[in-house]
Amino acid sequence: MKFSTNLFIFIILTTTHTISLASAKKKKFTTGPEINITKHLYFPNFSPNNPIRTLNQDITLLGSAAISPENGCIQIPENNLQYSAGRAIYSSPIRLFDPNTRTPASFESTFTFQIHNPTNRPEPISGGLSFIIVPDEFTVGRPGPWLGMLNDACEDEYKVVAVEFDTRMNPEFGDPNDNHVGINLGSVVSNIVINVSEFGVHLNDGTVHRAWIIYDGYRKFLEIYLGPDGIVRPARGVYSGNLDLSPYLNEYMFIGFSGSTGNNRTEVHSICSWNFTSVSRAFLRVPSAESCESKFAIENYPNVSSKTPSSFYIFVAVVVLVLITMVSLYFNRKPKETNDSDEIAVVPKEKQRPSPPTRARKFNLAEINSATRGFAELQVLGSDSRSVTYKGSLVNGCNVVVKRFSGKFLSARVSDRRRMIKEVKAVGKIRHPNVVSIRGWCFDRQETIVVYDFVPNGSLDKWLFGFGVLPWTRRFKVVKDVAEALSYLHSKDLAHKNVKTSSVFLDVSFRTLVGDFGFVMSTIESTRFESLVSQKVDIFEFGVLVLEVVSGRTRRSVNPGELDLLDLAWAMHETDEKAKLVDRRMGLVVNPDQAIRVLEVGLMCTLNDNKGRPNMEEVVEYLNFERPVPELPMTRPVSLFPYSSTTGLCSGYTCAPFK
Ligand SMILES: *[C@@H]1O[C@H](CO)[C@@H](O)[C@H](O)[C@H]1NC(C)=O
Ligand SMILES: *[C@@H]1O[C@H](CO)[C@@H](O)[C@H](O)[C@H]1NC(C)=O
Ligand SMILES: *[C@@H]1O[C@H](CO)[C@@H](O)[C@H](O)[C@H]1NC(C)=O
Ligand SMILES: *[C@@H]1O[C@H](CO)[C@@H](O)[C@H](O)[C@H]1NC(C)=O
Ligand SMILES: *[C@@H]1O[C@H](CO)[C@@H](O)[C@H](O)[C@H]1NC(C)=O
Repeated sequence: MKFSTNLFIFIILTTTHTISLASAKKKKFTTGPEINITKHLYFPNFSPNNPIRTLNQDITLLGSAAISPENGCIQIPENNLQYSAGRAIYSSPIRLFDPNTRTPASFESTFTFQIHNPTNRPEPISGGLSFIIVPDEFTVGRPGPWLGMLNDACEDEYKVVAVEFDTRMNPEFGDPNDNHVGINLGSVVSNIVINVSEFGVHLNDGTVHRAWIIYDGYRKFLEIYLGPDGIVRPARGVYSGNLDLSPYLNEYMFIGFSGSTGNNRTEVHSICSWNFTSVSRAFLRVPSAESCESKFAIENYPNVSSKTPSSFYIFVAVVVLVLITMVSLYFNRKPKETNDSDEIAVVPKEKQRPSPPTRARKFNLAEINSATRGFAELQVLGSDSRSVTYKGSLVNGCNVVVKRFSGKFLSARVSDRRRMIKEVKAVGKIRHPNVVSIRGWCFDRQETIVVYDFVPNGSLDKWLFGFGVLPWTRRFKVVKDVAEALSYLHSKDLAHKNVKTSSVFLDVSFRTLVGDFGFVMSTIESTRFESLVSQKVDIFEFGVLVLEVVSGRTRRSVNPGELDLLDLAWAMHETDEKAKLVDRRMGLVVNPDQAIRVLEVGLMCTLNDNKGRPNMEEVVEYLNFERPVPELPMTRPVSLFPYSSTTGLCSGYTCAPFK
């Protein structure tokens, strides 16, 4: 007993010594000399045929931001839209903060910009423009006084640094006038405001201005200069002073511009050239003298230990560890573990062969559980009567959406469950640019879970009925993309069964993807027949979705006494007033013929099944102008069952007979 205590103390001492020495070594070796990381961006213009850069890859356009091919400038918003917001972000992150020394990078951002109103109102006072430093490339801020800078007034977590060029006075945000520059740190309320009238600058006078934003990360000193384009930097800046940006910076940030317009006045913010240079402090990381391999090496090649003293200490540590293992084994013998630990130490356990990333696979409940942090409340994205949807993140870092069907919904019949599983697997095989990929599933006695890829820009309903206005060009593309997706699914004898605006998603480049499949159970036994009927339902629901997209209204009327959208659209058709249905917020820039034609295709999809409802393949052809759109009947045909002449299958829209 005495012996073992002594041995124990010896072990502790030796181990502590070895570990402290090893960690000292580690510090010394992993950090190399100090270096400067320099990044330089140069956009003499943003013309799409600029030979220097491929704009599509370099600049991510979000919300209502667009590149104007006529003058080669970024325009926010596109087409002079009211109450809209947009961002143009350089697509790669830039290192702007050194976490080791907590030093912000030094940078200089120089750009030319113009704020004008193409409709020739002399003094546009609406919204503004800002140079932004933001943590991601997929958030669009709110329109109006938020300048597209922040998404939510209370978003504490969102780190943002912005220099705003604001042409509207919002006293609630502390603005001094409608012609000021503001410095914003993590908030839409500026920390510093400068009345630029005092410098003879009128931001919205329609002329091209040049701004210089210069930050010295070592001295933590910011300077802003503002002057007309074409001259050298003015001697006197509009601002210079100490400013610590480090609390608002992650190591890597995205840079770019955001802008917005307000409620009933509009203006266009153009950014026509941009230079950006940053220098960030870093320490070279050189390969460490110690790695996990050296531990194995010692066992295999004993003579390595004589090379350096550090290896000797490692050798001692390993011997000590082996001793500890032996002693502990001696006191509580578990021969089975000996085998296991030996195996782990010498040969790495045979890895499970990874399946190709594009194939949907089976997940076990533990994986889903950890991806959603135990189905935590915070991860919930939404819920309906049949399911709860969570945001999750897999071990490999991929973001996913986890849809967990409620037990009640599925407990009904074993054969139904079996059919659903078969269907999920069939949809899991689908790879199409306009269909959200199914990453996998998890079925056990209690759980029915489907895992989808996460699409970052949110669902269509948020864009259509939320803040801001989606321009017509984007809406038309949404309609075409959804039609393509459904047409493809139908060609594979599948049906979506849950076509609605909240099942349609937009990715960062506003590509449209259809997701959130219905997998609806029905009492129809024949799979083939069910899928045929479901396809008819898809087409009908697609028709209603088209009406929603063109009109910017939800399918159900908000106010009591008003007609639902479908009834309203048919009524408008009968009185030949369809043009009134087109969302007026899109302004005069809509191509009215195109919008009305799309409306007609939508209405046609809601015709009775045997009275002219097209199939999705035909719809795609109508939308691509490859086939003339047939005449709609002058009045709405009477139909008892909206979906099909043979069955009254119900899902999203309505089961009630038409009036
Ligand atoms: C990095 O840049 C700073 C300021 O520009 C300079 O003072 C420093 O000497 C540079 N360091 C190296 C290692 O070049
Ligand atoms: C801004 O500056 C202009 C010109 O000096 C001045 O007339 C105006 O009163 C200033 N506005 C505010 C709010 O200080
Ligand atoms: C502009 O909006 C304000 C408030 O949002 C409203 O009071 C005003 O009547 C509107 N003006 C026009 C010309 O529409
Ligand atoms: C922008 O960068 C280019 C290329 O480095 C340089 O020629 C030009 O002078 C810069 N312009 C400004 C305003 O700094
Ligand atoms: C062991 O050391 C000898 C001489 O120091 C050397 O030649 C030999 O390559 C070493 N063996 C291993 C496995 O490193």
